[in-house]
Amino acid sequence: MRAYADNDYPADHKPDWKVISGLWPYLAEFRGRVVLALAFLVISKLATVATPVALKYIVDYLDENRGGEILLWIPVLLVVAYGLLRFGSTLFSELRDAVFARVAERAMRRVSLRVFEHLHNRELAFHLDRKTGGLARDIERGTNGISFLLRFTLFNIVPTLLEILLVAAILFVVFNVGYVLAILVAVVVYIVFSIKVTEWRTKFVREANARDNQSNSRAVDSLLNYETVKYFNNEKFEADLYDEDLDDWEKARLKNRLSLAALNSGQALIIGLAMIAIMTMAVREVASGEITLGDFTMINAYLLQLFIPLNALGFVYREIRQALVNVERLFGLLGDRPGIEDAPDARALVVSKGEVRFDHVHFAYRQDRQILRDIDFVIPAGHTVAVVGASGAGKSTLARLLFRFYDVDQGRITIDGQDIRTVTQDSLRSTIGVVPQDTVLFNDTLYRNLAYGRPDASEEEVYLAARMAHLDSFIQSLPDGYETQVGERGLKLSGGEKQRVAIARVILKNPPLLILDEATSSLDSLSEQAILGALKEVSRQRTTLVIAHRLSTIRDADTILVMDDGRIVESGHHNDLLARGGHYAHLWAQQHRSGDDRDSEAGTPPVIE
Ligand SMILES: Nc1ncnc2c1ncn2[C@@H]1O[C@H](COP(=O)(O)OP(=O)(O)OP(=O)(O)O)[C@@H](O)[C@H]1O
Ligand SMILES: [Mg+2]
Repeated sequence: MRAYADNDYPADHKPDWKVISGLWPYLAEFRGRVVLALAFLVISKLATVATPVALKYIVDYLDENRGGEILLWIPVLLVVAYGLLRFGSTLFSELRDAVFARVAERAMRRVSLRVFEHLHNRELAFHLDRKTGGLARDIERGTNGISFLLRFTLFNIVPTLLEILLVAAILFVVFNVGYVLAILVAVVVYIVFSIKVTEWRTKFVREANARDNQSNSRAVDSLLNYETVKYFNNEKFEADLYDEDLDDWEKARLKNRLSLAALNSGQALIIGLAMIAIMTMAVREVASGEITLGDFTMINAYLLQLFIPLNALGFVYREIRQALVNVERLFGLLGDRPGIEDAPDARALVVSKGEVRFDHVHFAYRQDRQILRDIDFVIPAGHTVAVVGASGAGKSTLARLLFRFYDVDQGRITIDGQDIRTVTQDSLRSTIGVVPQDTVLFNDTLYRNLAYGRPDASEEEVYLAARMAHLDSFIQSLPDGYETQVGERGLKLSGGEKQRVAIARVILKNPPLLILDEATSSLDSLSEQAILGALKEVSRQRTTLVIAHRLSTIRDADTILVMDDGRIVESGHHNDLLARGGHYAHLWAQQHRSGDDRDSEAGTPPVIE
């Protein structure tokens, strides 16, 4: 498992040309279109190569008959042919693009979807490590890179080489081998120069990308923390940090630009020198009468025609290198195996009664810090087990393990005797409903957020769930009712309202197992009592794991587990635990003394050890 970080951009790493072979499947999907596009390509190139020939005949005809009888229709016909050839060359190259566009766009669509699905398949740990801004940039660059690779390797590099060969053949047949050699030497020098310089430049490109990711991640993170920034008046501090990143980015981009300028100038110089040399040869041959004026024009036209795509070849090679780097990174992202995977022979979880067992579980997020130690307990089918204990004791971790966000290091977790590692994640997760400690909502309407618990639920079911979660009077008070936009991450709702949305979702999902992680912690005591009633209703007959700080809310649980530093230190009924006078009794007394417990007057008298 590899954490995602910007520093896996080794600057001297060479792009992997094998990446291109990863693109074949996308081409294979549209075999017919690819063949048609290639046919258009060949026609367009033939037209391109024929154009200077037409030009030659026009000039020669005019030159030979100067001063004599000119049959005007002959050169006019040739001019028309010349014009049509030029038009044909452009037309067919546009047709080629039009036919191929579908292939490239479909490939982008397929890859974007694959990446999206893959990212959702990655384990929680990956997502806690990633940087959203940088990741989004990588995906964008990678998918664009794929489109570029598809279009340009097939339709630029290959045709340019084809054109060079055709022109060389014509020059060889019509003139002499001198021109062919001169052109080939120029082309080879040009290509070698372009490749060498482009390779040297690649590190600047990568550097610029890495800096781009970094500044983008920083900006996104900072904006997500808008409120925190304000609480501490740290706008300047944030801006300075961002500007430091931008400074690196600017420097990297500058190097990128300067090296590009060097490349372009060098290429222009090679082309200029080649033109001088070849045209000088031609001038001398025209002067000595070896070739005609038409030939001279034709050679000039070929040179111009040849060096334009060659110039583009430099650009394309450079861009292809860059695209390869981006696509490789994207494929790398895809290639990483998820840290949590279904076993090859995984079956669907079968819930008969719904007994959950933690069997001597040990767990650590990182090897150097043990979190859970020898956790061993059972939630009999239909029972409610409550977990209490200090902050950081590992309570939410129990929930994450049961939901299989992480795998246990030792021991096992079973549901009705089936180790959760041997069943599909899909079946496991559809069995468990979670009200998480912190609820984050989608930036959408309240209705959609509620219905998220079961997207195919009817409106009536959604309204009923909202009512059960005591949201209806709140929603009625909203001007836009169910259509209210909740804002990014649901920040336009109060903490208690978000919690109730989470509860309503779980009611909609209607799973056989429930995890309630501080499900009512943000509610006032009146609302809490009301919701606890609803939750009790929901968790009746269901195996339920409740995590709570406020002990009064879990007093009725079948069993209460007290956790401390990753261990279960006590367990039993409320009254037994109070009578024992240990950890739990101590916590209970403390909550009463501080008045934290809302129904202390109504409840059993506190026992103080
Ligand atoms: N992804 C993670 N990587 C590393 N350590 C983690 C991670 N998640 C949680 N921890 C650590 O594991 C410990 C237990 O976390 P957990 O969330 O289970 O605590 P908790 O008992 O639910 O606390 P609270 O009552 O405050 O919610 C904490 O010390 C926390 O810092
Ligand atoms: Mg917690």
